[in-house]
Amino acid sequence: MKKIKKLISFVASVLVALFLSACSVTSRSENTVPVNAPYKNPSVSIEKRVEDLLSRMSLEEKIGQMTQIERGSLRTGDISRYKLGSVLSGGGGSPSQNTVSAWQQMLDQYQEETRSTRLQIPLLYGIDAVHGHNNLKDATIFPHNIGLGAADDPDLVRRIGAATAAEMAATGIYWNFAPCIAVGRDPRWGRFYESFGQDSSLVARLGSAYIQGFQEGLQDGLKAGGRAVHIKPIATAKHFIGDGGTRWGTSRTDNYKIDQGDTTADEQYLKDVLFPPYQKALESNVRTVMVSFSSINGLKMHAHKELITTVLKKQWGFNGFVVSDWGGIDQVDPDYSKAVAKAINAGIDMVMVPYDANRFINTMTQLVTQKQIPMDRIDDAVRRILRVKFEMGLFDTAQPAAQAKPSIVRSPEHLALAREAVAKSVVVLKNNGVLPLNGEQLGKKTLYVAGFGADNMGIQCGGWTISWQGSQGPITQGTTILGGLKELLLSSSIIYDAAANFDKTDPEATCVVVVGELPYAEGKGDSSELSLPPRELEAIQKARKLFKHVILVILSGRPVILDQTARSCDAIVAAWLPGSEGSGVADVLTGKVLSTGKLPCDWPESVEQLPLDNFIQGKEKPLFPIGAGQ
Ligand code: BGC
Ligand code: BGC
Repeated sequence: MKKIKKLISFVASVLVALFLSACSVTSRSENTVPVNAPYKNPSVSIEKRVEDLLSRMSLEEKIGQMTQIERGSLRTGDISRYKLGSVLSGGGGSPSQNTVSAWQQMLDQYQEETRSTRLQIPLLYGIDAVHGHNNLKDATIFPHNIGLGAADDPDLVRRIGAATAAEMAATGIYWNFAPCIAVGRDPRWGRFYESFGQDSSLVARLGSAYIQGFQEGLQDGLKAGGRAVHIKPIATAKHFIGDGGTRWGTSRTDNYKIDQGDTTADEQYLKDVLFPPYQKALESNVRTVMVSFSSINGLKMHAHKELITTVLKKQWGFNGFVVSDWGGIDQVDPDYSKAVAKAINAGIDMVMVPYDANRFINTMTQLVTQKQIPMDRIDDAVRRILRVKFEMGLFDTAQPAAQAKPSIVRSPEHLALAREAVAKSVVVLKNNGVLPLNGEQLGKKTLYVAGFGADNMGIQCGGWTISWQGSQGPITQGTTILGGLKELLLSSSIIYDAAANFDKTDPEATCVVVVGELPYAEGKGDSSELSLPPRELEAIQKARKLFKHVILVILSGRPVILDQTARSCDAIVAAWLPGSEGSGVADVLTGKVLSTGKLPCDWPESVEQLPLDNFIQGKEKPLFPIGAGQ
């Protein structure tokens, strides 16, 4: 009797299973998704919506969700053809007309394309808004992270996150590849300025403030008058893990020296230095994590199953999704198919391909069919991606994609916030009584200004501004430092010559020399010398000869090596890469705002003393120690 019951229930369950799979096959092939499918219903719980949608998806649709292509290589129709889950803008990847309305139109068009697909899964568009919405011309450009590290003001960083989300919302974009929570241990690294500093707890504190502000602060960010916002923006903690700790000479990419290299890390270093910023980011509910190009102890992070799957996902319970970096999986193995298998099996959920969707999708399809990637790994990846899309509200929001008014971009509130951030980031390293510059004290005397950084928007913004590498000159709207000084010192006359070629000068006069590194990004900025451009060194020398008082202002993404002439200036000011509102630097120089910035890293005397661990371990003595600032 018992046996018969068992048999009946077994037969019944087989029949049910057959029926269910027949249903899903029918729904797939017959292109019919009922209008009342649970995943389309906002009142159904997110996890149920995810499971419902997943159960309707073909392998092709699943792989599509895992694929992210750069907009530059996207042809019309690709989004629906490949059923793409995501598209990104690489550095400088903007529509041909770089205006808010052109961005809006582009995003609307992309979303429109997903509506012609069977399941109508909305597209998730990602971008690097690493110091404001920096690919958009005339956006508010905030200081790069290293300057925010000097300010060390979590509430300020929170507000910057919210303001950036608001400017992005005006263009219809809600996924930011920021913040970079690298613990920067070597200023020779071309991405040092993307780090908040050398101290892990500082990075953790500011990284999580940014994530909170960006993901939750949009309503405050829109104070200046937006539309009702339905979509929740998401941040990315990057680059997991060890990007800031690579050793000089270990990079295998192009002619890079340290970027994308190898980080040596024992248990202690992982626990004390590398993990805390990510643990804090997870506490702040960061929804995506981007994997680092670099390796840990010789193993490429893109293949590091233990750190990605065991630690991040299992031990820490991360239930958002993991995205790879730009072509990052290609570096895992010279054989593309092996590289893809290793990376996906290590736990990468979405792949920043970024050029050839066809090749990636075909490779994936083969790997799954040949069981080299298990189906439950694919389902896990897609589940995570869909979960985040549902949480964001992307499925439940009608057109248009842009949820904020264009006027939020460069709004007076955002400009004031950027100026505040700049003033707080400025570090006065030395001051022999020449600062602050005061209009009345200057009196009838002329103020001389020199240096190529003094009146150059591109230099003060640095890399990741309008283009990937950034460039010199009037690349976007803003106020230069010279502009800021002119605005604040109305009563004095100001004479500017970049090369400090002044004919006649008052010997008692003061000269402000603003020198700057030329813009760079990523490994192209790796530098063995950390020296200022020769023309800037000459300007300092000339000014030193001509004037009694010289104030040196340095625009750089990192500490640079100062020669004796530079060190002998009466004041030395680190202004980092302040972004579009140079008036914040002038605020501190003129005493309108008291300087409060402190060094977020040790400032070496020479490159031989590097990496920064040598200071941390007390093996070397810096020119200016971490925390310095008057
Ligand atoms: C960088 C990432 C960035 C991505 C997309 C990569 O080269 O390492 O930080 O998010 O490109 O632009
Ligand atoms: C960057 C992209 C950039 C591309 C240009 C990548 O490494 O991350 O943002 O557009 O290189 O080749």
